Amino acid sequence: MNRFIGLIDSGMGGLTVLNQIMGFLPEENTVYFGDMGRAPYGSRSRQVLKRYSEQIVRYLIDNYDLKLMVTACNTISAICLDHLQETFDLPIMGIIDPVPEKAISASTNGRIGVIGTRRTIESSVYQKKILSIDPSVRVYPQECPLFIHLVEEGWTKEPAARLIVGEYLANLKHSKIDTLILGCTHYPILKDMIKEYLGSDVLIIDPAVECITTIKAFLAEKGILNKGNYPERIYQVTDNPELFRSSGERYLDRKIHNVNLVDIGLLESKTAVC
Ligand code: DGL
Repeated sequence: MNRFIGLIDSGMGGLTVLNQIMGFLPEENTVYFGDMGRAPYGSRSRQVLKRYSEQIVRYLIDNYDLKLMVTACNTISAICLDHLQETFDLPIMGIIDPVPEKAISASTNGRIGVIGTRRTIESSVYQKKILSIDPSVRVYPQECPLFIHLVEEGWTKEPAARLIVGEYLANLKHSKIDTLILGCTHYPILKDMIKEYLGSDVLIIDPAVECITTIKAFLAEKGILNKGNYPERIYQVTDNPELFRSSGERYLDRKIHNVNLVDIGLLESKTAVC
């Protein structure tokens, strides 16, 4: 039976992970959950993030036959992954683990920048993992809380967006990083602007790209890769399905059907207190 891979994010950012699945695991059925009604997640407290992500995973488990859940969001991966793995009897994978190794081997000057939401940067998850592998590397973290709004509004080329990108990344440019981790799944959508500001010498690492190898290896090892399947694509959002559909089509560069609205009240009524 062709079971589903579930993907969760606060909004449209996790589409960058879905895009990789569509490209490299095209026969997999997917159900994508964007919590548009409660986004952004990046500045929310740990407790709230755990509650929201638990509600969503529970909802998806109740409604779909899942073989794997991917937290297609750095904030959820950084703050809630352990909690979700302890709570649910389902393989749940984050998107952070494969990244530090890749960034270290990509950097030639040992200066690595990490950008992400306030909560991800504050958690120091990337810094800790990088330094545990190679303590000689210098890590330059930068939170960029306004980036998610640019992406959710579809501002990927506007001059005002360019200004905000420059404002957030000025210190990293000054620090002469040669590698930058996009530690939020929304940020690859701003990649062109980021590259333009930092220059072509800075290598950009996208966790959405890096995690695909891990997902594929997991499915292969368990013998649960889909074969010869015409994939089902389902999208669930907690608000603004039309905005999700129109911006999502632009970001994925393909048509999106099956965008369903999920009642936040229903999610909240089903959750255990955590
Ligand atoms: N896309 C998410 C991440 O990777 C969350 C962004 C947000 O909602 O602030 O962290």
